Amino acid sequence: MTITYKDADGIAGMRLAGRLAAEVLDYLTPFVVPGVTTNALDKLAHDYIVDVQGGIPAPLNYRGGGKIPYPKSICTSVNHQVCHGIPNDKALKKGDVVNIDVTVIKNSWHGDTSRMFIVGEGSIAAKRLCSVTYEAMWHGIRMVKPGIHLGDIGFAIQRFAEGQGYSVVREFCGHGIGQVFHEEPQVLHYGRPGTLEMLREGMTFTIEPMINAGRKEIKDGPEKDGWTIVTADRSLSAQWEHTVLVTPTGYEVLTLSAGSPPAPAFVAEAFVPASPAIA
Ligand code: MF3
Ligand code: CO
Ligand code: CO
Repeated sequence: MTITYKDADGIAGMRLAGRLAAEVLDYLTPFVVPGVTTNALDKLAHDYIVDVQGGIPAPLNYRGGGKIPYPKSICTSVNHQVCHGIPNDKALKKGDVVNIDVTVIKNSWHGDTSRMFIVGEGSIAAKRLCSVTYEAMWHGIRMVKPGIHLGDIGFAIQRFAEGQGYSVVREFCGHGIGQVFHEEPQVLHYGRPGTLEMLREGMTFTIEPMINAGRKEIKDGPEKDGWTIVTADRSLSAQWEHTVLVTPTGYEVLTLSAGSPPAPAFVAEAFVPASPAIA
């Protein structure tokens, strides 16, 4: 397996798949309220992807790393669940924090994105963890341009998250994505500047930091379903995910939609426009 570099047709395919994945999250948003079950959200997402978007939910029956096939169409990870939570018949309750992770296949291209949702009114601790994790993702995204290294992305995320008193999960990472759901390279959310693969135009990969309020260690969930991962210390965990393209001058976020939250102010501030010509 090697890194794939997308040409104009591939980029067009990735743009469409990415937007569709984000639009599934937009569609689900008003349904994420106290009393809804994650199974109900899964059914809503499945039917929207298949019937409205003409796509395929990539997680359904996905076999990653020799695991049992994933049984649902989205991942829903609640509170101390870190990732890969399987939707079930338990109702969400006020104050829960839930990550919904959507991957859509459209015309053989994959778009992969996740957001945090706070059910009803959340605690200050929950709100802070979700917003710091969102900013951590963007600290990684804003590094992306040809010539930097994957270690620069990981370092930016780790420095910010740990600076806020949180920890970075090590066992799961972002990934190259295209006509294959998980392809090279691995995109670690921690690391050292200047290390690992150099970015080149046409690469597409996800940045999806999992940030714990407590310690970084994780374990298999008590469900023993082969997928659900939880924090070892039962502290809250959050995650956001975008799929990005390396452009000639920087990055394009492929998983944006009308309902995507705006980038944090520091992302726009770092962007220096060309100087106006002086007559
Ligand atoms: N969407 C997840 C990711 O960001 C992968 C989920 S694999 C599944 O990489 F099988 F659990 F859906
Ligand atoms: Co992903
Ligand atoms: Co995902």
